[in-house]
Amino acid sequence: MIKVLFVCLGNICRSPMAQFVLQNMVDEKGLSDQFEINSAGTESYNEIHHEGIYYGTREILRAKQIPFKEHYSRRIRQRDYEYYDYILAMDDGNVEDIQSLVGFDTKHKIHRLLDFTDNPRNIKDPWYSGNFEECYDDVAEGCQAFLESLKL
Ligand code: 4NP
Repeated sequence: MIKVLFVCLGNICRSPMAQFVLQNMVDEKGLSDQFEINSAGTESYNEIHHEGIYYGTREILRAKQIPFKEHYSRRIRQRDYEYYDYILAMDDGNVEDIQSLVGFDTKHKIHRLLDFTDNPRNIKDPWYSGNFEECYDDVAEGCQAFLESLKL
């Protein structure tokens, strides 16, 4: 079982998008039994308010015909670092914040999602940019490259 935790700041835009995009890719490849995929944030305010997936992410997932279930924001915890095999962050700030919450990455589990591509970069936060289409393209590119890196 390959356990993947996507992480962004608020856990309502980018990381749930990546969670359901990768889930759809593995489902379509018949690999569902080999993966456990989830998401979390580095901040706790959306967890406190029991926030679900932001409407911009819902809309783009529907437009791209990516199935999704309800997901409620939660902050990454120390035990997530032990449990998951891959902690996939959206940007440099997430990586720093994850390390401040779970400690030094001794097991080399923390990566930026787009570091699996030929063009390593951050995924801009659509909460601020408003551009969910660009976010989706980046997320899909990163998930594709991540899957290929596993050489299943
Ligand atoms: P995300 O975007 O990290 O991609 O989920 C954000 C969502 C909410 C907030 C910030 C970023 N917020 O400030 O509530």
